[in-house]
Amino acid sequence: MRIAILPDNEAIGKVGADLIEELFNRKPEAILGLATGSSPLPIYQEVIRRHRGGKVSFAKGRAFTLDEYVGLPVEHPQRYRNFIRQEFTDQVDFRDEEVNSPEGNAEDLAQACADYDQAIKDAGGVDLQILGIGSDGHIAFNEPGGSLASRTHVGVLTEQTRTDNARFFDDDLNQVPTHCVTQGLGTIMEARRLVLVAQGDNKAEAVRQMVEGAISAHWPATIMQMHPDAWILLDEQAASKLKLSDYYREVWEKSNL
Ligand code: GLP
Repeated sequence: MRIAILPDNEAIGKVGADLIEELFNRKPEAILGLATGSSPLPIYQEVIRRHRGGKVSFAKGRAFTLDEYVGLPVEHPQRYRNFIRQEFTDQVDFRDEEVNSPEGNAEDLAQACADYDQAIKDAGGVDLQILGIGSDGHIAFNEPGGSLASRTHVGVLTEQTRTDNARFFDDDLNQVPTHCVTQGLGTIMEARRLVLVAQGDNKAEAVRQMVEGAISAHWPATIMQMHPDAWILLDEQAASKLKLSDYYREVWEKSNL
């Protein structure tokens, strides 16, 4: 894992945007994996700035989002399909039809999940996958106790995740969906590069487990230790429980981007 402990969201945004800019300038038809949630927003905002400054284009690119709530009305702003367009893809030059999301309202959800997994494969696989992490250690919506090799599937959200996300639903837990569709951990691990972002104290324990804990379905993000090209972008608070933080800082300073 390449671990960057950075001073603020501006620095996180720059490192993430550097990786995306480098990818699309080298490979304009690249496939970007997009995460929703608040963590990646500094990266998207910096990429939007660079796009407006003519430094990067997504006109030939494709995108796949990670996950979706089940059963939200089509126009709901928290439907991840809508969120990612508003926060990122509509503000750059991605072709709308090339921004793919798992279908949370399909009649046959299991079939829709299998189709989504296959669509990622058929497209050639994700080049760079942006990720956040839940305070319970989930990535995408892969909650504790699931298979570390899972494919895109229907899941049940933990009480903790629903409570964490209630802030997006008028602080009303009853409005937060109970089910989701999500890329599986096995699906996510096939992306050629993973870039996970975490900020704040409430992510510190999940980050500690992800980086320094034993690989376990109890902390799903620990599977990233098995990925050959995983980048972890943290602020000081999210990194505050790491035992080897001084060493990670030294390695980061001595490595070239
Ligand atoms: C959400 C999403 C994840 C996201 C995570 C953290 O529930 N399904 O994809 O990474 O939880 O969210 P946030 O970045 O808002 O803290």
